[in-house]
Amino acid sequence: MPAAGFSVSASAGSEFDAKITPIVIISCFMAATGGLMFGYDVGISGGVTSMDDFLIKFFPEVYRRKHETTESNYCKYDNQGLQLFTSSLYLAGLTATFFASYTTRNLGRRLTMLIAGVFFIVGVILNGAAQDLPMLIVGRILLGCGVGFANQAVPLFLSEIAPTRIRGGLNILFQLNVTIGILFASLVNYGTDKIHPWGWRLSLSLAGIPALLLTVGALLVVDTPNSLIERGRLEEGKAVLKKIRGTENVEPEYNEILEASRIAHQVKHPFRNLLQRRNRPQLIIAIFLQIFQQFTGINAIMFYAPVLFNTLGFKSDAALYSAVITGAVNVLSTVVSIYSVDRVGRRVLLLEAGVQMFLSQVVIAVVLGLKVSDHSDNLGRGYAIFVVLMVCTFVSSFAWSWGPLGWLIPSETFPLETRSAGQSVTVCVNLLFTFVIAQAFLSMLCHLKYGIFAFFSAWVVVMSVFVLFFLPETKNVPIEEMAEKVWKQHWFWKRFIADDGDKTNGADGAVKLARP
Ligand code: BGC
Repeated sequence: MPAAGFSVSASAGSEFDAKITPIVIISCFMAATGGLMFGYDVGISGGVTSMDDFLIKFFPEVYRRKHETTESNYCKYDNQGLQLFTSSLYLAGLTATFFASYTTRNLGRRLTMLIAGVFFIVGVILNGAAQDLPMLIVGRILLGCGVGFANQAVPLFLSEIAPTRIRGGLNILFQLNVTIGILFASLVNYGTDKIHPWGWRLSLSLAGIPALLLTVGALLVVDTPNSLIERGRLEEGKAVLKKIRGTENVEPEYNEILEASRIAHQVKHPFRNLLQRRNRPQLIIAIFLQIFQQFTGINAIMFYAPVLFNTLGFKSDAALYSAVITGAVNVLSTVVSIYSVDRVGRRVLLLEAGVQMFLSQVVIAVVLGLKVSDHSDNLGRGYAIFVVLMVCTFVSSFAWSWGPLGWLIPSETFPLETRSAGQSVTVCVNLLFTFVIAQAFLSMLCHLKYGIFAFFSAWVVVMSVFVLFFLPETKNVPIEEMAEKVWKQHWFWKRFIADDGDKTNGADGAVKLARP
């Protein structure tokens, strides 16, 4: 994509001299492949868990029920073991991210991405070669560790290395890769479903491609100036800054990072520091964004799209086909976000999407309520197409709002001193709630039936109101100036920050106050 595609008007507000250099674009493309792996893992499980060969080998009970005609349409796949296969990755990831917080802070963003790549490679080998359930689950856990490390380091890397005025667009490359990973996984499943009896092995093994891409990418990129300077490598940090900004005139940005890093150094316990009053706005926003992102219901669709479409009466093939369609919509709509996030801003995207997601979910609930009963799936061709269309409407709005912004906003709002700890909390809460949905969805579908979509639509209303009142706009604000330009200006959050500034001069004083 040409660099010009990202640029916005010069009046954007960034004070720093920065060109959109090839090295920044290339580094971002390479680092963002961490998202590819995450997406592939999200996308692959739904298809694999509906393959007969896989079920016969690892979950014979589910296989038996799947082929029993007496089982309710909404309950065929309700099995805790099967859900654990999907979920173990998220449990591992949410634990691993706390270790990753240590490595991103002390070893750097780049090395943390490399560690993620190695986890991924070993996990893929175990999964592809799995002989029994424990081997399968251990492989999945290692993949989870990879996700914990990658999702910790990649969004931070992107937000720090990007010039302010295109930071949103570059950060969303991560989410673009997530969506490409999901689509790639659906396509793979579509093909491997026809290969007996080892198609599922191929599905799980092809995760090796994104795993290798991330590993090689991490070996090639330079670390961010913020991380280098934070770790005391000042000259190197300045040299990198000049290189990535394409100018010798980096003093103002360098000094700002230096100041942020001086403050960061005074912080001995990043997680404890995160709980300080002045860090609360970012923390609360980060936590809520993750909970809300998952309660849009996106993963109910993503993990289980093939299972869901099967339940709705599509044949196995058509089910994967539909998953491919939603996957493609997901990718294309993410591009819309890359283009618009630094122009119209974060809030507009989230609010527009709220309306669109709400309407599509309500319509799906009504159609399913009227047309799909427990034992007959007479949705009919017309209605089936209509449901797929509504699912696409839902996915597209998620893809230009909560999908990318759930990762972007936390990675750009925390100050350097709490950035890696804050990102850990972000990843942890994200994966925790991804886990909750993955573990509960099939049971919820079985009990709430079509009402599950009404359930998620109610959450969409809640999150949109939250955005309206509590989410400040962060478009075009330099990353180390959020406290001054965003939080201190916000009608509600300023009360958490203001007292610090009154007593001393700026963030330095804030730290002194924070220390016991
Ligand atoms: C979410 C994932 C989701 C994906 C869908 C990501 O931002 O964190 O949970 O599966 O978007 O595209």
